[in-house]
Amino acid sequence: MKVKLKVKRSNGESGDAAYSRYEIETADNATVLDALIQVREYEDGTLGLRCSCRAAICGSCSMRVDGHSRLACRAKVIAITRGKEDHEIVVEPMGNMPVIKDLVSDMEIFWSKVRQVSPYLQPEGAVPEHEYLVPNEAMIDLTHTMNCIMCGACVSACTVLEVDKSFIAPAALAKAYRFVGDPRDDHKHDRLEYLAKVQGGIWDCTRCNMCVEVCPKGVAPMDRIMQLREISIDEGMTGGIGVRHSKAFSENIRRNGRLDEARFLPEAVGFFNVPRLLSELPGGLRMLRAGKLPWSHTLPWHKPIGGIKSVRRMFDSIRSQKKGKASS
Ligand code: SF4
Ligand code: SF4
Ligand code: FES
Repeated sequence: MKVKLKVKRSNGESGDAAYSRYEIETADNATVLDALIQVREYEDGTLGLRCSCRAAICGSCSMRVDGHSRLACRAKVIAITRGKEDHEIVVEPMGNMPVIKDLVSDMEIFWSKVRQVSPYLQPEGAVPEHEYLVPNEAMIDLTHTMNCIMCGACVSACTVLEVDKSFIAPAALAKAYRFVGDPRDDHKHDRLEYLAKVQGGIWDCTRCNMCVEVCPKGVAPMDRIMQLREISIDEGMTGGIGVRHSKAFSENIRRNGRLDEARFLPEAVGFFNVPRLLSELPGGLRMLRAGKLPWSHTLPWHKPIGGIKSVRRMFDSIRSQKKGKASS
């Protein structure tokens, strides 16, 4: 099978980047990683890439293939090029991380964020004579997070990290969930308090779903972040802007069946929070000019959407389900 590759080449020191093109013959079942290794072995020994297991286990071959963060050893060439004759596969290093060389990224950002969430058990009290025992059922909910192979694909794709380097990012937050949910850990409350209050914590995720889409191991980091939010609210951490934002959003939708942008901000930050409201004024005016602030929806005679009763029934049903869970 003929494979065409367009690989981003750069030397991290100089910062210059360019693309190299390769055309090779490979086996029909080749992966992008197989093709890259073949290029390095037989075409161009200067190509830099990182890999080890070649079986989606070690997490070292993350890169962007046709713009999507993924494990190169799991990306079948035939699946990418099927139906697209002459397709040139574009291979680039991971996003949100500096490049050391070609497809090799510096993952220090990734690891520093993992370290930030204290990724180890912190049990209190006397150390048991043997291992810490835990019922199997208590660990079932954690199995997906424990599948993480630390490949960094989610961090590479995270849209918030792109604009805010303080964001703890999906992999580390999923790791934090793994310890918050572990019954052997005695620092659940402190962990949640930290994650809820720190700059770049759980309330800064915009739920873009990219981390869920790219994760090769089904960790679904965004879902874990949402679980952390819920647990933190259950633990009484309701004073932050993130919680107010979330409550204002759902109340807004329950009331009108749509987001009423003009009332949303004052409801989220407080009607008397004049400094904050003034600071958002330029953005509000820009939205108004772009037609994204339908202020007429705020007028008292503006009606909610048709079918609002069904929307409210859904809200009430979810709320009573949650209450039922909390009391059981
Ligand atoms: S859902 Fe949240 S954590 Fe995941 S990629 Fe989007 S912003 Fe980042
Ligand atoms: S959560 Fe998924 S994508 Fe992110 S590092 Fe772990 S395995 Fe990779
Ligand atoms: S080489 Fe180990 S995950 Fe791809």
